[in-house]
Amino acid sequence: MSSDPKASIAQMEKIVSLCKRRGFIFQSSEIYGGCGGVWDYGPLGAELKRNLRTAWWNTMTREREDVLGLDASILMNPAIWKASGHVDTFADLMRECSLTNKRVRADHVDPQSGTVLKYSGAQSPTGWRWDRTITALTKSGEHIESFRKRIRALIAQNAGESAGKPEEIELLGEEKIDAVNGSVDFHPETGGMLGEARPFNLMLKTYLGPTATEDDVTYLRPETAQAIFAQFKNVFDSSRVKVPFGIGQIGKAFRNEVTPKNFTFRSREFEQMELEFFIKPDEAVEIISGEVAAWHEGADLSEPQPNWGWELWHRYWVDQRTKFYQGIGLGDVLEYYWQTPADLAHYARACVDILCEFPFGTEELEGIAARGDFDLSAHQTASTKSQEIFDEELKTAAAKLSDEQKESLIQKRLAAEAAKVKGEPMPEAAVRAWFERLFKGSYVPHVIEPSAGLDRMALAVIAKAFSETEKVDEKGKKEVITVLRLHPRVAPIKVGVFPLLKNKPELVAKAREVYALLKKHLNCFYDETASIGRRYARQDEVGTPFGVTIDFETCGEKGPELLDTVTLRHRDSGEQERVKISELLGKLLPLVS
Ligand code: GAP
Repeated sequence: MSSDPKASIAQMEKIVSLCKRRGFIFQSSEIYGGCGGVWDYGPLGAELKRNLRTAWWNTMTREREDVLGLDASILMNPAIWKASGHVDTFADLMRECSLTNKRVRADHVDPQSGTVLKYSGAQSPTGWRWDRTITALTKSGEHIESFRKRIRALIAQNAGESAGKPEEIELLGEEKIDAVNGSVDFHPETGGMLGEARPFNLMLKTYLGPTATEDDVTYLRPETAQAIFAQFKNVFDSSRVKVPFGIGQIGKAFRNEVTPKNFTFRSREFEQMELEFFIKPDEAVEIISGEVAAWHEGADLSEPQPNWGWELWHRYWVDQRTKFYQGIGLGDVLEYYWQTPADLAHYARACVDILCEFPFGTEELEGIAARGDFDLSAHQTASTKSQEIFDEELKTAAAKLSDEQKESLIQKRLAAEAAKVKGEPMPEAAVRAWFERLFKGSYVPHVIEPSAGLDRMALAVIAKAFSETEKVDEKGKKEVITVLRLHPRVAPIKVGVFPLLKNKPELVAKAREVYALLKKHLNCFYDETASIGRRYARQDEVGTPFGVTIDFETCGEKGPELLDTVTLRHRDSGEQERVKISELLGKLLPLVS
């Protein structure tokens, strides 16, 4: 990211423009003026997203023995959102502009400076009157007359036709209050004074059923995770798995974001890729393995071990997710924010945000949280359906413990409860009842949750790949060339296939043959128009990592040794090599998958 805000904005504008021009991302409902915070993916964007989705799915489920997949519905029983806490607490604090009623997230108001002016009200010759105190801040360098004009326009906009023409609105009882410095009490766009911060629930409400009464209210899911918790028992019972194991899901999520911004980064409709990885409580690990391994800098995280407690599992998933990002070309733009105890929700033991460098700043790409048994226990209580699993190994190990050893485990837990800085400590009777179930082999699993956003990931790879170089064309004219250096694994088009000349039937026929051969296995693009340099440039701009050119050598015109060979061009190095058509696929496939 550039340290110059103007350069960052310019960079972002170029990325947005490229995304539209080349069919990656379009504004939703553009022909009707758009739809705030909602985006559509064009032909290349759809391929890019599909590649990212596949990379996540394969890495997180198919290539592992301990993770299963799920594809749950977007609409669910609203009781799920009550139990999960979303109905009561999934809210942003918002403040409303007293002038325009426009809302802004309380934590998104940048400090502003200027002079504060106050009016006792406003009126117009139409007889319209506003008996409301108006307090607003001048913008930096704004002349008082421009300020008044702007305030009149905003009032007229808000009041509608009854107020008449903006220029005829009279602002009453002007008073100049002190200059303010670094204030967060004024709306960043309008300058109007902001009201008190109020919670605003981010879930999108809808009605399920024809009567559309309050009884039919449900929500578009704000995260995919809750469906995993709600189906935990069904997956466990139907799949012959043992804890530790995970359930992964990719799907749409919806949030009525107060201020969607930064292109697709904060959208109202987006896709999540979430894993809920269920583990044994640390006490169960200690009973079975005799100890819980402690994490230390440099700990070996390559292979999960039976004596891992939540902390090592959490570190393991941070490591796994980092490797995933390295595998799609984002390795060198990641940062980590380890939430402090003050940041953490009372039930969370740890949470790390994997951050990525975007043109508008370093922002969250994925969160990895250790959530204890909060979610499954909440659903167990609300649904009254047991979410416990039975662990034979634990029962056998617990049976070998002496009463003193059992009591020592209970005392350790009671001490931990007493030392809690957030949330209510579990009462002793509840702790003892929990251990009684544990010693019999029963517990509600704990969970580690790596939760990533697909749209953010797509934006991150595009932003990271975007580069510009200056080139001099054949006529000596300077031009700026855009190259999208997408990792071959995620690039929407893997190979461009080009006959050197389109008016040579033998070249075209051979190129079509190569295209048909590759197309069955890779997303390819056939192009025969314009100069070969121009065709390479078009593919560079959309991130195609390889180009195959069919030339006279291919047809044997330069000797039999080059017959049925093509030029393979590598986008990033510019290297060109001669490859036999029969060996092309074998060479390309490992490079793109
Ligand atoms: N189940 C946990 C959960 O949903 P979150 O931090 O709210 O946690 C996880 O969301 C990820 O989903 C984020 O790291 C981000 O990548 C993505 N995400 C969240 N809100 C988003 C939005 N409004 N637009 C795009 N992506 C979003």
